[in-house]
Amino acid sequence: MPPAALTPAEIRAAAAQLPRVPLAHLPTPLEEVPRFAERIGGGVRVFVKRDDCTGLLLGGNKARHNEFLLGDAVDQGCDMVVWGAGVQSNNCRQTAAGCAKLGLECRLYLSRGHYRTEPQGNLLLDYLVGAHVEFTDATIGPELDAFLAGKAAEFRQAGRKPYAWHRPRVVPLAAVSYTLCVAEIADQLADRGLKPDALYVSSSGATGAGVALGKALLGLDCPARLICPMHWPWHIPTALARDANDAAGRLGLPHRLTAADIDADESFVAPGYGLPSPAGREALQLLATREAILLDPVYSAKAMAGLIADVRAGKYKPGAVLVFIHTGGVPAIFADPSQVVGATV
Ligand SMILES: Cc1ncc(COP(=O)(O)O)c(C=O)c1O
Repeated sequence: MPPAALTPAEIRAAAAQLPRVPLAHLPTPLEEVPRFAERIGGGVRVFVKRDDCTGLLLGGNKARHNEFLLGDAVDQGCDMVVWGAGVQSNNCRQTAAGCAKLGLECRLYLSRGHYRTEPQGNLLLDYLVGAHVEFTDATIGPELDAFLAGKAAEFRQAGRKPYAWHRPRVVPLAAVSYTLCVAEIADQLADRGLKPDALYVSSSGATGAGVALGKALLGLDCPARLICPMHWPWHIPTALARDANDAAGRLGLPHRLTAADIDADESFVAPGYGLPSPAGREALQLLATREAILLDPVYSAKAMAGLIADVRAGKYKPGAVLVFIHTGGVPAIFADPSQVVGATV
C-alpha cells in the first residue's frame, strides 16, 4: 500500500522541522489569465502561480530555495557562500541577495559560455548587492561543480566556513521548498472550489523534483509537466526521482518516486540552453500583450510554450484547470533585449 496522501498543512508541519530563514514573499498570488487562455483555445482555464513575485531582488524560484539553503548555511555556522552558474544566472542573483540580507559574504564564479560580461541584467544586480564576482571557463554541470568544490576547499584551508554549491545536498533541500509551493497552490485552488488538472513548470532540477514530490504527497491526480530548459549529461527522470526521494527523507516522510513518476519533457530546449525559441517568443508575446505578465526567454517562456503545445494538441477537456508556475527570470531580458525583440508586435 502506498503511503496516505497528506494535507497541505501536514506538508508544512513536516517542513517546519528543517532550518529555514524567511526570505520570500509568501504566499505568492495565484492569478487566472482568461484573456491568455481564450487566445490559446481549447476552453481551458489557466492560472499563473506568481513565483516571479517572490521578492528577494526581483523574484523567482530561488527565493523559495534559498529559505532552506541559506537556512542550512546559517544552521551550520557558515560565514560565506561559494556559488556559481552562468553569467546571467537567476540562481546566483537571488543567492547573492539572500547573502546580503543575512550578512554572509557571497563569492560567485560565473561560467562565461556565450554570455557577455558587461554589468547588465542579473550580473548588474549581483554587483549591486555586494557579491564578489569572478568569471570562469568551466562549463555548467560537473565541471563547474568540481571547480566550486575546489574553491570551497581553498577557503576552508584559509580558515573560513563556506557553504558551497554541492549538488547532492543542495538539490533535495531546494526541492523541499517546491513541495510547499504545490501545497500553496492546492490551498488557493481549494478556496475557489477547484483542483488542478495539470501543473507546468520550467525545470530540469530541484524545482521540478519538488513539484513532482508535492503532487505525490498531496495525492493529486494530474500531470506535473516539467518543461526542461536544458539537457544534463545524466538521465533527468532518474536524477529527479532520487532528489525527490532525498527531499522526502529530509521531510521525514515515507513517500517515494521512481523515474516513471517524473514527467520531464526535453523537447522544448532547442535551439539550446539560454537561446530563445520561436515557440517561446510566441508564449512571451501572448502573455505580455494579453495579461501584462512577462516571461523570460530562457526558462519560463519555453515552459509556457510547452503548455500551449499541449493545449493545441487537445490534451485537455474544456474547463480544465491548468496551473503554470512562473519561476521568474525576467532580469535576463535587460541583459540581451535582442532575445525578446522578435516577441514584440
Ligand atoms: C527563472 C528560472 N526558472 C526555472 C529554473 C529551473 O530551476 P531548477 O534548477 O530548480 O530546475 C531556473 C534555474 O536557474 C530559473 O532561473
